[in-house]
Amino acid sequence: MTLASQSATEPSVFNHLPEGALIEQINRLRKEKNAVILAHNYQIPQIQDLADVTGDSLGLSIEASNTDADIIVFCGVHFMAESAKVLSPDKRVFLPHLGAGCALADSITVESLYEWKARYPDHTVVTYVNSTAEVKAASDICCTSANAVSVVRSLDTDKVLFTPDKNLARWVARQVPEKEIIAYDGVCPTHDVLRQASVDRTRIEYPEAIIIAHPECREDVIAAAHEVCSTTGMLTAVGRYPEAKTFIIATEEAMMHQLRKRYPDKEFVSADGCIGCRLHCPYMKVTGLQDVYFSLADERFEIQLDDDVIEGARKALERMLAVPRDD
Ligand code: 13P
Ligand code: SF4
Repeated sequence: MTLASQSATEPSVFNHLPEGALIEQINRLRKEKNAVILAHNYQIPQIQDLADVTGDSLGLSIEASNTDADIIVFCGVHFMAESAKVLSPDKRVFLPHLGAGCALADSITVESLYEWKARYPDHTVVTYVNSTAEVKAASDICCTSANAVSVVRSLDTDKVLFTPDKNLARWVARQVPEKEIIAYDGVCPTHDVLRQASVDRTRIEYPEAIIIAHPECREDVIAAAHEVCSTTGMLTAVGRYPEAKTFIIATEEAMMHQLRKRYPDKEFVSADGCIGCRLHCPYMKVTGLQDVYFSLADERFEIQLDDDVIEGARKALERMLAVPRDD
């Protein structure tokens, strides 16, 4: 039996294929099925390298809304694949691994959002894309880390209820002091674990380094950073420091892969600062090459959403897409 003719429901063979052979099979299937593979910057390097497009949440949403592929295989986490489905409802969207959730997205349910809205009835709800499609559908507008400041500035109201990330909300509030921003009580555990003391410890070895932080980091880390931006924004930010040799990166460790590829002459160091305390998102790391293969071969796991959820979430996402990036 050739590899090409073997059914994908015989995982024992495909789970043990050498990487090169697995990639060959993925390439064959994506061509046969007119599929596009989108990968977030936190995916394992092999998936980032295999993807048609690698990017941040905003960039990947835009790709999903513009693609003419029949199938989108979304290598990221569940809320990202949902956004792709919302923006391309006629496409089939697959998430290769069902364990790819997001602790921050899970911190808010549509019921808890309704409770907050009831407490702040005059406020416009801005919801970070790290949320379920149901929560987006109950929101006025979405934002990502790449456009949160511009989204809030674009509103014709001064009262904002920002959900679910309180660190991002605080960062936006600093940029837009003229608006009242009430923050929901969610955080990303991967970023929220980092403290300025750890960044300082990393800095002892690299005193001249430029510090770049994701806005999901806590206030003290943000205060220590030279640049605060989305994951793809970090790639642009490095270009603003042609003289700098070393950069301390305060975000999920896989981001280092794109940075090192784009800037092979620069040094990138993770801002973890302590032994064993890695900036690691377990949900971003569950997807392996074999999951991408099975996703294409067996057409799994398909994102299914109710029409009214798609309609509501699309309004909030499309409103967001009309606002330019911050960076
Ligand atoms: P970006 O949109 O900046 O890529 O961030 C997504 C994310 O989940 C960060 O934890
Ligand atoms: Fe969610 Fe945090 Fe992982 Fe990003 S890093 S996907 S916010 S848990």
